[in-house]
Amino acid sequence: MSEPGQDRVVVFDTTLRDGEQSPGASMNLSQKLRVGKALAELGVDVIEAGFAAASPGDFEAIQAIARQVEGPAICSLSRSSKGDIEASWNALKDAPRKRIHVFLATSPIHRDFKLKMAKEEIIRRAVDGVKLAREKCEDIEFSTEDAARTELEFLAEVVERVIEAGATTLNIPDTVGYALPQTYAETLSYLKKHVRGIDRVILSVHCHNDLGLAVANSLAGVMVGARQVECTINGIGERAGNASLEEIVMAIKTRADVLRVATGVKTERLYPTSRLVAQVTGLQVQRNKAIVGQNAFAHEAGIHQHGMLTHRETYEIMRPEEVGFSRSSLVLGKHSGRHALKERLSALGYKLEDAQLDKVFGEFKVLCDKKKEIYDADLEALVIHGQILA
Ligand code: KIV
Ligand code: ZN
Repeated sequence: MSEPGQDRVVVFDTTLRDGEQSPGASMNLSQKLRVGKALAELGVDVIEAGFAAASPGDFEAIQAIARQVEGPAICSLSRSSKGDIEASWNALKDAPRKRIHVFLATSPIHRDFKLKMAKEEIIRRAVDGVKLAREKCEDIEFSTEDAARTELEFLAEVVERVIEAGATTLNIPDTVGYALPQTYAETLSYLKKHVRGIDRVILSVHCHNDLGLAVANSLAGVMVGARQVECTINGIGERAGNASLEEIVMAIKTRADVLRVATGVKTERLYPTSRLVAQVTGLQVQRNKAIVGQNAFAHEAGIHQHGMLTHRETYEIMRPEEVGFSRSSLVLGKHSGRHALKERLSALGYKLEDAQLDKVFGEFKVLCDKKKEIYDADLEALVIHGQILA
């Protein structure tokens, strides 16, 4: 929740649309509904449930989510065409809160090779799409696809014209993950300075991760005034993925001293939601993934474990419970020290004299060179079968 002096950032989750575009991540209707309900419980503000015109299955899933998921606004993506906008509207109309999301590419490479349209036609189509969507629905988002590779003056012109036409959220995608934090922030600052009416709309960021910068670029956007972030659970999405929701939310929470904004996300739901999305998509989360990876709160090095046993903040900037883990883990391996071993043995009920501990510690290190991780059963075997306590 935001505190006095802190702006609220709208969390727009696109796991079910852009996330589902990850190769191999498609979900069936009941899986999409489970994820939709989990996102509502997590406290996101907008769920982009799909792209209604893309397939009958996508249409049905958006309609089911619009009818059954309470809380967030439900959104459907549409190209800037009558057929797509009508499909989105038909899928969404039963939702208590709904948004139509219209997009059209603006960069030279997309204009010349994909759309084969001149600048004037891009503007005309964008404006017509927004006007049509606005006849159906009050909440309209427009995205200038590939904005990060678009000439700034033309981008500003398109943005100004779609705001005049009735768009309420203006999204500036880095579709191919090309931007750097500084260049992306400069693009948004340019728009804030040169576009009439920009203060009437919510400026939004949508960053892909091709250079591993999606979260950094999104936060750079927030620092210059973006107040919506588009992101996905576990960062799934086209190619290298989208900005990861859990990383953005926890950066905003942990560094509120600098960012001075807040989200409405219930952070303790992050880990369970991450597990659900991994399970239904089959896309496993890497062990060292920030916030939700198995190693995110695991400590192996002896010096770190000693620090953690003395004061957890020596090596943890967030509490694991804040993101839904039950506790930090001190993993026993070849980098672990006597303190951690003593602590674990004592938790297992073995109180050893110093000389006994020395002996187990020596045998433990020998074992560590043979095994990657040492489990409780291994320690019991060392103590009992090594006849330390016999
Ligand atoms: O990456 C992108 O440009 C998109 C838009 C359709 C918003 O996903
Ligand atoms: Zn995208």
